[in-house]
Amino acid sequence: MTEKAIEIINLVKKFGNFVAVDNISLTIYSGEIFGLLGPNGSGKTTTLLTIATVYKPTSGDVRVYGYSVVSDGDKVRKMVGIAFQEPKALGIDKPYDLLLWHAKVVGYSGEEARKVVKDVMEDLGLWEHRNKYFYQLSGGTRKKVEIAKVLIQKPKVAIFDEPTAQVDVVSKHYLWDKIKELKEEGSTIIIATNDMFEAERMCERIAIIYKGKVKAIGTIKELKDFVPLGDTIELELASYADQHVLDILSRFGKVRGLGNKVLIYVNRGEEVAIDIIDALRRSGVKIVRIMVKEPSLDDVFFYITGAKLKEEIS
Ligand SMILES: Nc1ncnc2c1ncn2[C@@H]1O[C@H](COP(=O)(O)OP(=O)(O)OP(=O)(O)O)[C@@H](O)[C@H]1O
Ligand SMILES: [Mg+2]
Repeated sequence: MTEKAIEIINLVKKFGNFVAVDNISLTIYSGEIFGLLGPNGSGKTTTLLTIATVYKPTSGDVRVYGYSVVSDGDKVRKMVGIAFQEPKALGIDKPYDLLLWHAKVVGYSGEEARKVVKDVMEDLGLWEHRNKYFYQLSGGTRKKVEIAKVLIQKPKVAIFDEPTAQVDVVSKHYLWDKIKELKEEGSTIIIATNDMFEAERMCERIAIIYKGKVKAIGTIKELKDFVPLGDTIELELASYADQHVLDILSRFGKVRGLGNKVLIYVNRGEEVAIDIIDALRRSGVKIVRIMVKEPSLDDVFFYITGAKLKEEIS
């Protein structure tokens, strides 16, 4: 996974004086599922639309398999497919007609186009809606039509902007599987989301974007390790955790006693838990139960974007 699929190089995008994307640089490798995670207005969609050549950078560049969105837009457009955050019907009234048009634009012949459109529509449960007007479709169904475009296209680079917002939970899981299949078939995938569960379930690496800047980048595990004292060890003892016990435990991290329960906030929780068990045994303290909890992606997000991780330990 070393070939560079997308290189975002000092990308700046301004709308008037407002800086929506503020000097972002990052690399996405061929074949990975990469997530852009950030709160509303952080610049995710603007970044994606720049990769897809809908917007031109104010400065900087994006290279897609070596081709610049600034100087080689046509080549980039051939490689990129995007499911927009806000589904676009492009003046076409009905889902089937839109998808058939799209299939032809991305290179299918008449017969092939009808076949792939039918297959994908049936697969996503859209076939029964094929001849409805867009205004008659629910928000989630419109979103599925938008995703169907990319599944039909099977582009080298597939971009999904909040793919499952508005989609019900069963369909969500199905769409995630479909996006993973697309990766297995060779597409590089970029997903923008502010749904932590989606990010955790889908993305191999994530960039956390905040106010137009990249705040952190890495695998989920790396991002979780980024949070100081992010792991919580929860201990239940056979007896009340007195000061002596709390003193022993405070050698390992920040400690909070709650009767015969103790919470200890540490780094590398799985390793520290073993040391804690040893130390308590040596002091004759009986442990009933021990549990290690890593930070959630929410915790990481709060930490990295400057909100408090856990009020009780500050
Ligand atoms: N065409 C535009 N004209 C002016 N401002 C814009 C335009 N598009 C986006 N912005 C502004 O740029 C900022 C980033 O918007 P963007 O849509 O990229 O955020 P986002 O991270 O995708 O947010 P969300 O999670 O709500 O989709 C916002 O403050 C937005 O109001
Ligand atoms: Mg957006």
